Formats: sequence, structure tokens, C-alpha cells
Amino acid sequence: MKSINQSLKPITTKLNSSGNIEIGGCDLVDLAEKYNTPLYVIDEATVRGICQDYKKAFEKYHNVNMMYASKALCTKAIAKILHSEGFGFDTVSAGEIYTVYKAGVDMTKVLFNGNNKSYEELSLAIELGVGRISVDNFFELSLLNEIAKSYNKTVDILLRITPGIECHTHEYIQTGHLDSKFGFDLTQIDEAVELILNDYKNLKLHGLHAHIGSQIFETSIYGDEVEILTKEISRLDKKFGLKLNEINIGGGLGVKYNESDKPPATYEIADIIINKLNECIKKYSIDAPTLILEPGRSVISTSGVTLYTVGSSKQVPNGKKYIAVDGGMADNARPSMYGAEYVAEVANNTDHELIEKVTIAGRFCESGDILIKDITLPKLNEGDIICVYNTGAYNYSMASNYNRVQKPAMVLVNNSQSDIIINRETLDDIIAHDVIPDRL
Ligand SMILES: Cc1ncc(COP(=O)(O)O)c(C=O)c1O
Repeated sequence: MKSINQSLKPITTKLNSSGNIEIGGCDLVDLAEKYNTPLYVIDEATVRGICQDYKKAFEKYHNVNMMYASKALCTKAIAKILHSEGFGFDTVSAGEIYTVYKAGVDMTKVLFNGNNKSYEELSLAIELGVGRISVDNFFELSLLNEIAKSYNKTVDILLRITPGIECHTHEYIQTGHLDSKFGFDLTQIDEAVELILNDYKNLKLHGLHAHIGSQIFETSIYGDEVEILTKEISRLDKKFGLKLNEINIGGGLGVKYNESDKPPATYEIADIIINKLNECIKKYSIDAPTLILEPGRSVISTSGVTLYTVGSSKQVPNGKKYIAVDGGMADNARPSMYGAEYVAEVANNTDHELIEKVTIAGRFCESGDILIKDITLPKLNEGDIICVYNTGAYNYSMASNYNRVQKPAMVLVNNSQSDIIINRETLDDIIAHDVIPDRL
């Protein structure tokens, strides 16, 4: 069965009677006029649809906690939608914890991850009653125990481990291989467990956590991960009499950024994970653990598009034709960071056939600020609206104010209604934190 992470475009995308592209029943040209560009647009039906795909795919296993990896896109409105779909939240900073808290999320359904959480962040997590903290290293075990003691509380934790699985994705988004900055090496787990059982009395260990990487297309590695985690649970039971009843296998399912991407469906990975888990429960004689997943990109990416307005163009003699738009690497860092590829279309009605091969350049002062290389589009004119697909994940969340350019607004569309969920930054926002010392 297909799932929404396998589509290139939001599920409501179509051409309307004016010949313009519409999403969520909203004409993209009207949105660009009303809210200005660059503009992030999120289709609510697509977000809710993929949540339902995940829930259906995993309903065969009795106890699953879906925790959206909020690093992909974290805003109060997005948190509210996912909470209403029954998802919890994987967070990695005080900022993400505070956002979901302010959105009214049940904090027991929040997990705090990260390889260098600060004293202040761990304290905030304890104060707000975050449900689980995934402890990444020995330093953090000791620090967290000390903070928990000062609050006179016992903190519920998982141990983040490095399972030694290499996935074939960009090296910057691989995390589960042995030489990774994240988590305890398999050879360090016993020492960590001994410390928790004997010394760190304010920590209660519930299970193991791993995350192997992002934009994953290989399905079998999820089975390998389940095997390693369940085998460790069984080994720790035999060695320490420790009953761990949670395994968190992270996120990572890929999405379709271009025609050649063939990400697996949620249903396909669910079958592999659940079959392997049931097999390992028998094989290693363990109690069936709660299964936790942390999908980020696959939950939100497909729902998002970014609209840009075409400005200047440059034909290099005997070379490329550059079309410049009003955004670029500061609102979508992925092409310049990982060489990520995107598909775009012209959102306004154009009578031109597909005739020009162009390179869409950003407006930021770096030669590397290229959004899409060599794409064939109708002949573009100043004022045309370009719609770049699949920008819901890791675009706004990685956005910066490079060149002191304001971050774009974000609108949520559904049933022909559009609502701002992030206001466009103003010039006063840009200087809001600047201070001129009196002596100047
Ligand atoms: C620990 C952890 N969980 C979940 C995710 C989400 O991954 P994705 O967005 O690929 O699903 C990440 C991403 O880096 C992560 O580090």
C-alpha cells in the first residue's frame, strides 16, 4: 500500500480553473499576493494524512508511541495538529520543548534527545515534566542525576546507543554508524547500566534508543536495528536482571524530493519492523516492549512547498541561464549544505511550453546559493511565481537571517482557507537583539 511520503507534492495539489496551481483549495498566486514571498505553505490534509498512514501501518503492534521529531519543523500550530493526531514529540532543545509546551502538548508524551544538553535545558525538561530523557553519554548521566537529585525527583530515561549500522544516505545525516558523535558505543552500555543501577539513584532506565540516519530508502536496516536493540535488552536482563520495556528506533524514513527518489511506504517499514520485533521477542525470550518511533522528515516534508517570485535573470554567454528568486539558502539551506535536489513548477498560468533549461539561483551573497540546477521550465518572466515542492522539513527549521534578510512567513492551508502560522519577520525583528554600548 502507498503512503504519502512517497508523493512529490501535497495531496491536494491541482491546477485550478484559472490555470494556476492550488494547494489545500488555495490558489498559490493568490497566496503569494496576499502574504508576499518567499512564503512557506503547509497543507494540513497532507500532514494529517501521513499521520494516519503511520498509525494504520503500525496498528498491528499492540503498543506503539509515535513521537514526531520536531527538529524537522517545530511551530506551535504544527505541534497542535500532531498532538491532535495522537503523536508525541521528540525534542532536542529548550526551544523545541518550550514550543510544544506552549502549544498545550501533554508533556508526558515528550522525549528529550541530544548529544550535549545543557544544565538549563535538562532542568527545564524536569520542571515541565518531560516524559523521557534519552541520555547520550557518561557526562550527561552524571549531570542529569545531579539535577534530578536537586529537584528531589526520579527522572525516566532511555539510553541512546550507537548500533553500528551504516545506512546509505548523506554522511551528514548518518548517525548510527560506530564512529558517530551520538550515543553510547555498544561496548559502553554495561558501564552505563552499572552506574545507573548502583550510583545514579535519581535515574530510572526504561529502555534503549537508536537512530540510524535520515532520508533512508533501505528497509532492511530497520530490521537490523530492531535485532540489535532487542538482543541488548535480553543480554542486559540476563546480566543485570534488568527488565527494559521500551525500544526507540528513531526516525529516518525518506521522502520523494525528485522523480528518481523511491522512498518505501510507512506500511513497508512497519511490516519489517513489526515482523522482526515479534521474531526477536520469541528468539530472545523478552517481554514485548513498547515500540517508539521518531519520524520527522517523512511526517512533514511532503506537506510543504515554498513560493518565490522571479526577479532578475542572467544568460552567461555560451553558458547557463540563471533565474534569480527572492529567497534561497537562508530559507532552504539543504541544496548548498548537502547538494539536495528539488523539483519546482511555475505556479501561475503560463502559455509557454517546457522550453528552457535554467538554474534557479537564490538572492544571497554566496555563489553556492543555488536552489535548483538545470531544471526545464516554461520561459520565465519577472513576477512569475515558482513553487518548490517538498520543503516542509528542515527548511524553516534550518532557516537563518544570513545577509540580515527577514525569515519568510508560513501559512497553513486547508479547505480553501489560509492562516498565518508564522509571521514574516520585520526589519525591526532583524535589529531586535542588537545593542549599541553607551560608550560608542
Ligand atoms: C534522534 C533522532 N530522531 C529522529 C530524527 C528524525 O529523523 P527524520 O527526520 O529523518 O525522520 C533525527 C534526525 O536527525 C534524530 O537525530
